[in-house]
Amino acid sequence: MAAATAVAAEVVVADAEAAINTITNLPRLGVGFGFRDRYHTDVFVHRSSIDFLEITADHFFDASRAKREQLELLSRNFTLIPHGLSLSLGSAEGIDDVYLRQLADIVSAVSPPWWSEHIAFTHAGGIDIGHLTSLPRTKESLAVLGRNIRRAKAAIPMPLILENITESIRYPGDQIDEASFLGELLEENDCGLLLDVTNLYTNSVNYRFDPLPLLWRLPRERIVQLHFAGGHWQDETLIDSHSTPACEEVWSLLREVLAYADVRGIILERDEKLPPLTEILIEVNRAREMYLQAKSNNHPASREG
Ligand SMILES: [Fe+2]
Repeated sequence: MAAATAVAAEVVVADAEAAINTITNLPRLGVGFGFRDRYHTDVFVHRSSIDFLEITADHFFDASRAKREQLELLSRNFTLIPHGLSLSLGSAEGIDDVYLRQLADIVSAVSPPWWSEHIAFTHAGGIDIGHLTSLPRTKESLAVLGRNIRRAKAAIPMPLILENITESIRYPGDQIDEASFLGELLEENDCGLLLDVTNLYTNSVNYRFDPLPLLWRLPRERIVQLHFAGGHWQDETLIDSHSTPACEEVWSLLREVLAYADVRGIILERDEKLPPLTEILIEVNRAREMYLQAKSNNHPASREG
């Protein structure tokens, strides 16, 4: 009986090691940006300045022939990371079968090294809320997320990384602090973290806390990809609008994250006031310099990558 227990324990340890190896062995992609239709020609003109692209999976659901051809062309020329917007992993009622199938089809079509979704809900009680909404940090939320993530992973057998969002509300009944919540979520479900540096910064400004102690409590081996972007002020609140270049505070935090974790890829997000691609690439190139500098300083084993 004791021997059987020991064997079972070894199997559990081996499974845990294999799981974390899946995350730590993900390829290093470099720096790119979130693809938007405006840039459909320019990405080829500037191909050598773009290491990879993130696509919003939802933009290719029920795609026209022209959109399907665009996706094929992009996937032949770039590594694409599909990013979902509305899977609603935090919905207590579960995730939508039709949406999950559409998402799975897009992920399968581009064969990415990983795909991403948000730690949030967008649907509740049959209502589409229309934006990403934060969850109470409770055991119940972790259970709901776990149930939905298991279903998503069964349908999409590629590594899943989860993104922290900008929180427009926080709940008085939170039972778990943010770092513990994220750590438990990632470990229990064997997911990577898509750390949105701007979201972390925005929350730190709006809720008045220092982002660095939080960063340093996150499981560094699970930080796979970063997002960064620029927002704007509305009254006393910083809005994560993806409408401006990133501010210097975000660049500083980005540098801290790169020193802390062996990040595999960085994506600049821009959704409003889309500038010419050459302006986007100024930020992409700056991020790449920081990424390569961090790799040579802190992660010498990754130099070949
Ligand atoms: Fe983001």
